[in-house]
Amino acid sequence: MKPKILIIKKLPDYVKEYIGNYCDYEIAEDAGYDNIINKIHDKDGLLLAGTKIDKNLLEHAPKLKVVSNISVGYNNFNIEDMKEKNIIGTHTPGVLNDTVADLIFGLILSTARKLPEMDRYVKDGKWNKQDESIIFSKDVHHSTLGIIGMGRIGETVAKRAKYGFDMDVLYYNRNRKYDTEKNMGVKYADLNDLLKQSDFILIMTALTDETYHMIDEEQFNLMRSDAILINASRGATVNEKALIKALNEKKILGAGLDVFEKEPIEKDNPLLKMSNVVLLPHVGSATIKTRNDMARLAAENLIAALKGEVPPNVVPELK
Ligand code: DGY
Repeated sequence: MKPKILIIKKLPDYVKEYIGNYCDYEIAEDAGYDNIINKIHDKDGLLLAGTKIDKNLLEHAPKLKVVSNISVGYNNFNIEDMKEKNIIGTHTPGVLNDTVADLIFGLILSTARKLPEMDRYVKDGKWNKQDESIIFSKDVHHSTLGIIGMGRIGETVAKRAKYGFDMDVLYYNRNRKYDTEKNMGVKYADLNDLLKQSDFILIMTALTDETYHMIDEEQFNLMRSDAILINASRGATVNEKALIKALNEKKILGAGLDVFEKEPIEKDNPLLKMSNVVLLPHVGSATIKTRNDMARLAAENLIAALKGEVPPNVVPELK
């Protein structure tokens, strides 16, 4: 008998075919937590992105062996609960690095050069030669980029910054990356120095108990008044209330955000009314090719686990 799996995401046909060779699958696109619980009692595997995997859900899944995330982030996994039940957890690192790094540069350029605001200015028929005060903005080239979290994506951004935009790159990371420092000329800085010196502060660290709200009021107080905060990791690495306060009080110049504490963003979030922010709906990896590659890799991880092999991308804490 083939193993049974539950798929919570829209997948390309070729990935469904690949899965179908090894598994019987049920698709419940974008099903929420409660809906998943109702369907999971007879499933050996789960393929999804973002749904909380905790003790309660696992108690409804007596046969479950593997949860395969179609994302590189895995803050949806309760690692202790998964360890206790011997559940394999996998993710999709690598295939999205360039796509996310491109989007981060889109955010840097959009925020610094005010691209969405300029677009509105032209389309609203406000372009005239009498008052040009609105058009002036901040340079990206030859400025300083501070990267918090120098993982695979951080390094891919650093490459663009160094070689494409002649930027000075500082980074802060749990472990020093001596090879990257040597090969790319990026410099390690402690967090406070990075915050004080950078024109652009990019948060690329995974969301964990340690990184929850790591950028809070105290950190905003250290930043330059012309600094721009870019977050493409997880919303909760930044205390959003402190960010809104810093923007309102002009402690920083602006922010480019692909992630939020609550997604989709709440309708009354003050960020929606601010002109010095650029907001995106968590689309870092969302090109057709990259999302397809992520789906394929997640399917490979899932099937390897169901065949009793060690999947190529088990999350580090569950190895
Ligand atoms: C990831 O892969 O973690 C991206 O943020 C998309 O969810």
